[in-house]
Amino acid sequence: MDNRPIGIMDSGLGGLSVIRIVNQQLPHEKLIFVGDQGHFPYGTRTQQDVCQLALNIACFFKRQNVKMMIVACNTATAAALPTLQKEMPFPVIGMIVPGVKGALQQKHHQSVGVIGTASTIESHAYEHELHRQDRSVQVVEKAAQPLVPIVEHGQTGTEQAYQTVDEQLKIFDQQPIQTLILGCTHFPFLADEIQQKLGYQVVLVDPAKEAVNAAKEWLTQHDALNDTEMMPQSRLYSTGDVEILKAGAKKWLSNQNYTCAHLEL
Ligand code: DGL
Repeated sequence: MDNRPIGIMDSGLGGLSVIRIVNQQLPHEKLIFVGDQGHFPYGTRTQQDVCQLALNIACFFKRQNVKMMIVACNTATAAALPTLQKEMPFPVIGMIVPGVKGALQQKHHQSVGVIGTASTIESHAYEHELHRQDRSVQVVEKAAQPLVPIVEHGQTGTEQAYQTVDEQLKIFDQQPIQTLILGCTHFPFLADEIQQKLGYQVVLVDPAKEAVNAAKEWLTQHDALNDTEMMPQSRLYSTGDVEILKAGAKKWLSNQNYTCAHLEL
């Protein structure tokens, strides 16, 4: 047993889509979340820049004595995962390998779409991993950066959200897919809009599900699960406007046992 917290990071509210699943799968775990809203968005930054930002947050987690870090951000996973795994004394779990695993587990995965930030799609991290695991998969990648602020600014479910999804995912009208990887943690909050655009025959894969499974497996194998009370209090930090984080957490998290504060890094 290990009752230390798990550190989770993202550029903003996307990390909450991962926390939702951690709360379901690992309800005894205490979390420290950093939404790096002071540097939002990550998706238009250079890989080097994102790597440095992720490292700064990982060093904060180290000072907080976390037992594990989940990079709840595909952009930071693509830019920084090997560096974080090399530099940090705790296990670091990313989104991309689990996301690919989740897609290839689907019955129909001959043609797989990937949507993500500009940076993630430019890196081709998903395409490379899909082909590493299965050479025969056809991959259609599409950067969909304009969907990120829709979520961050609380505009899901609006006419503008439906319109932006419609424009951004047009490519799949010409290049139909069977399975779509939501390769940005902001996008699961637009699942309804995306599903309506693509039709219900397309399976949406949220990489967080397999990522949290991987975290659970590691903690179980290493006898490192928290054995104290259900839903212990978690700490949510924003490096930017804490009110945006508060509003997002109120909207997206069913577990309300957390505190929110600003963090200067
Ligand atoms: N939510 C992040 C991701 O999964 C990044 C969004 C952004 O800041 O551009 O890639």
